[in-house]
Amino acid sequence: MNDLMDQGSINKESIIELAVRHVCPGRVAVFKQLGAVPVMGRREGNYFWDLDGRKLFDVHINGGTYNLGHRNAEVIAALKEALGHYDMGNHHFVSVARTRLAEQLVSLVPGDMQYCVFTASGAEAIDVAIRSARRATGRRKIISFIGCYHGHGGIGLRAGEAEQARFFLSEQPEDEILRVPFNDQGAMEQALAGGDVAAALCEIIPATSGFPMPSPGYYPAIKKMCVEKGTFLVADEVQTGLMRTGEMWACRGYGIEPDILVTGKGLSGGIYPIAAAVLSKQAGAWLPEDGWGHSSTFGGSELGCVVALKVLEIIQRPEVRANVRDVSSFLAGALREIQSRHPFLLEIRQNGLIIGLRFDNPVGGALVTACAFDSGLWAFPAGFDRSVLQFKPNLLVDRPAAEEALSLLEKSIELCETRFLGGPHA
Ligand SMILES: Cc1ncc(COP(=O)(O)O)c(C=O)c1O
Repeated sequence: MNDLMDQGSINKESIIELAVRHVCPGRVAVFKQLGAVPVMGRREGNYFWDLDGRKLFDVHINGGTYNLGHRNAEVIAALKEALGHYDMGNHHFVSVARTRLAEQLVSLVPGDMQYCVFTASGAEAIDVAIRSARRATGRRKIISFIGCYHGHGGIGLRAGEAEQARFFLSEQPEDEILRVPFNDQGAMEQALAGGDVAAALCEIIPATSGFPMPSPGYYPAIKKMCVEKGTFLVADEVQTGLMRTGEMWACRGYGIEPDILVTGKGLSGGIYPIAAAVLSKQAGAWLPEDGWGHSSTFGGSELGCVVALKVLEIIQRPEVRANVRDVSSFLAGALREIQSRHPFLLEIRQNGLIIGLRFDNPVGGALVTACAFDSGLWAFPAGFDRSVLQFKPNLLVDRPAAEEALSLLEKSIELCETRFLGGPHA
């Protein structure tokens, strides 16, 4: 066995030095500043182990990628079986695996869905969604939320934080991307008023802003406005979909049917990359017209399709859904108790297993991240609001595991109060 597989003999610092030299110097600098530079070694279920030996309960789960935990045995078995029959397939051809997965996804997404375009990443699927909306409406303008994130693709990057696009001289002409505050119906109404917008691109619960929750009635109201103005509503469910809210898709819980839905991350089972844009007949009207309107060698690879079908089968099991609901309500009560002992925890934002914890410090989420790393918990602050810690157990975490995660969280908060705030913070 070489040291790629048996990592016990690898010196963590030497790998970090190599990463600085060849891979991601800027990123390492940020992790160092945060006080937590994990290098994943072994990984299993709720945990991964840093190369320095520490065991970490993963409640960041890479945005939902490890929605079924790390190295889920059933997903791995499905991939191994597929390797006995398939390779990635030929993306130009009709494919059994791709067709079966499309049929499943189309039937699972609320609304009048017809087509599925497969990609290798969420960002690519977002670009497909926007291009589809533009083609179908003949309009160029896109609305997105301030503080949202849709990946580092072409158009999607420009719909996210303008600063990130500007960095690469890739910002969109200002009159093509209209960015409105989340939860502001008036701003959305104004942006849609001209009747010239192709799509309202909605990250259903914006992760990078720390999971602010949509106000009651917000989504039905903007869906109604979109229908009136002939604008497509695109639900970016890369982080919120696949049962994280106790529903297959968060948009269903908020009572809306999107015209296009984008899924990714957890669809891969954390094992084989795959993402997709699911389109209504109208939104996908280019598909009968142009067979190569989108083309992606690795998009919808057949191995990925087999894995995704297994993922969908697992998350639709009644016991998985029941577990999500049970653990979510258990966490809601237990987090309130932690809050009563630690007023440093200002606000709990929760929908199912999507949880943002806002602390009483502009960088509170980042401070707790460092302490969590030293306490055996891997959690991560929200990128655009570092007062918030993202706390996202996987779907299969049971009550005892949830208790363990909570006790690690409380230990991390206590350590943070002692280390950075001069004792328990009242
Ligand atoms: C909400 C959302 N949309 C899109 C993306 C892009 O997905 P990917 O990283 O697979 O390109 C992400 C990734 O974090 C995301 O969180």
